[in-house]
Amino acid sequence: MPEFNNILVDRAGAVATIALNRPKALNALNIELMTELVDCLEALDQDDGVRAIVLTGSERAFAAGADIKEMADANAMEMLARDQFARWDRIRKIKKPIIAAVSGFALGGGCELMMHCDIIIASETARIGQPEILIGVMPGAGGTQRLTRAVGKGLAMEMILTGRQITADEALHAGLVQKVVPVEFYLEEAQRLAKDISEKPPVAVRLAKEAVLKAFDTTIEMGLEYERKNFYLLFASEDMREGMKAFIEKRKPEWKGK
Ligand code: CAA
Repeated sequence: MPEFNNILVDRAGAVATIALNRPKALNALNIELMTELVDCLEALDQDDGVRAIVLTGSERAFAAGADIKEMADANAMEMLARDQFARWDRIRKIKKPIIAAVSGFALGGGCELMMHCDIIIASETARIGQPEILIGVMPGAGGTQRLTRAVGKGLAMEMILTGRQITADEALHAGLVQKVVPVEFYLEEAQRLAKDISEKPPVAVRLAKEAVLKAFDTTIEMGLEYERKNFYLLFASEDMREGMKAFIEKRKPEWKGK
């Protein structure tokens, strides 16, 4: 793994934890940080020893958004040439499950990054919002689409048009986050969940994640077709043989990842 300036990477068994680490800027997502994050995610995705990834920030901020100071003087043609959101598309292609562990501010690009993850664990202190409207822009890394699908039109519209931050409990109630725990436990809880998933058969985890994500960009008909093909494909895996055999023999399965 190369050296990074803006993220910390930690490994515990098959779970890797990436912590965004630009504390002075509340983890604002500048180009250098995003480049490191995406390179790191891709490297972990290629590493057979890693089966689940936790993405976190600090207690004070998951991330306070795209780096406003880096964008403030840019014109439209420069933004087009930077094509900064192309990097975000690469996060969407990560095959291993990513669990977000969110505390403090998850705003703008921070909220959008959180929504790129597969499951979100929040601390009671989390404050989530799309405040771009307050600085004269709008979400650009998927917020209008992902937030709307997660919480429905009304709340997404309200958050995006007013910039209001919602609490962790409101996010839980709206279905945006999956669990809220006291601040002392949010990271531990996300890592516990990641460990649980890391102990499941990896090929089935990969194909199931792919199939769930398909629900976002296809018709029900094509999504069902996709699910069925992935289901059949798993009958070519050694882990499927082992899983069913172990069930019948009343013992714990031993996964090979094949
Ligand atoms: N970009 C750059 N720097 C940021 C930042 C950001 N998004 N958010 C915070 N910072 C910096 C502040 O400038 C400040 O730096 P200095 O000490 O050098 O002045 C430092 O982080 C601490 O921030 P505050 O002093 O403002 O801390 P606070 O506790 O008073 O307020 C906050 C916290 C409410 C999160 C406030 O910092 C804030 O509103 N930040 C901006 C949030 C925002 O607008 N995000 C959306 C960005 S646009 C975007 O994300 C587009 C997209 O769709 C990808």
